[in-house]
Amino acid sequence: MRNTLIIAAALLVASCGAAEEKGVKDAFEGKFYIGAALNASEIVGADTAGVEILKKHFNSIVAENCMKCEEIHPQEDVYNFTLADKFVEFGEENDMFIIGHCLVWHSQLAKWFAYDAEGNYVTPEVLKQRMKDHITTIVTRYKGRVQGWDVVNEAIVEDGSYRKSPFYEILGEEFIPWAFECAHAADPDAELYLNDYGMNVPGRRDAYVKLINDLKARGLRIDAIGMQGHMGMDYPTVEEFETSLLAYAGTGVNVMITEWDMSALPTVNMGANISDIEEFKASLNPYPDGLPEEVAAVWNERMKAFMDLFLKHADKITRVTAWGISDDDSWKNGWPVRGRTDYPLLFDRNLEPKPFLDEYTK
Ligand code: XIL
Repeated sequence: MRNTLIIAAALLVASCGAAEEKGVKDAFEGKFYIGAALNASEIVGADTAGVEILKKHFNSIVAENCMKCEEIHPQEDVYNFTLADKFVEFGEENDMFIIGHCLVWHSQLAKWFAYDAEGNYVTPEVLKQRMKDHITTIVTRYKGRVQGWDVVNEAIVEDGSYRKSPFYEILGEEFIPWAFECAHAADPDAELYLNDYGMNVPGRRDAYVKLINDLKARGLRIDAIGMQGHMGMDYPTVEEFETSLLAYAGTGVNVMITEWDMSALPTVNMGANISDIEEFKASLNPYPDGLPEEVAAVWNERMKAFMDLFLKHADKITRVTAWGISDDDSWKNGWPVRGRTDYPLLFDRNLEPKPFLDEYTK
């Protein structure tokens, strides 16, 4: 009898504990997916602790790097599907909503893609054909398995003009509809997205609203706009983020928060990637041994304010995806300044959930 009581008490304690530790995804069930970007060591399962967190707390995944052009299609006749295949298998095994990132992007573009043997830009016809081959091969391989694709990534700059990428310089604005056409032909059931950062900026916002409307007017499929959600302690404001979110939703597409992270470090305004600068001031890396409580409190408050905003507009938002699982994973430790210790993600370096999540999970 005594043993039975002890076992019953233990079970009670265990079940209470379990109730307290609701997965983040369960806390937002019926609202939106909670996603994470996966790096190579999570995809192959080497990061076992990270994978456990992922299974418990996330129900959507996106490839952080393994589906980017330079990785998956390094040479014209060479595709490397090893990691991408594993990534998709992992998502299927765990019943996750799988996102492919990304089909057309100026960065991490394979060196050969836009150039001929002499190092000059290829003709518009050649680039169109290369884009078609690239998109068709990848989307067809994962047809019916990858549910949504970032078709074009980071095409518009702050003033609302097109980024002067090789795609734009060779094909002009037509490269975007062309990419969507190719992706849709390869998998008519897949969701197709535009994705960019700084989506709160008015010039970029207006340009994307126009672009979405143009694509729709041509009868092309576009399901959602991805607001990357790379934030800092001083940008963006909740209000301007909301204004953009509503403007995109006003076109009739869904909104996704696709690459959420909030740097806790001083913002470096450089207008360009300065990760190559070897020497940087200690003042830019002020918390190498841990985030001071008062800074963490502000960070958590800001994250909560954004999460509350996403909840407020849950009827328009289909997915909130963090750009990594825990702080150690984050690209922010190396960008835009190399070698900093940042604290931007939902789980800390001990894989504990950040305090702002308690509000939703407990
Ligand atoms: C980043 C990755 O996180 C890094 O590992 C990589 O070295 C560079 O790219 N916008 C995007 C993402 O769309 O693909 C970028 O990911 C971050 C900015």
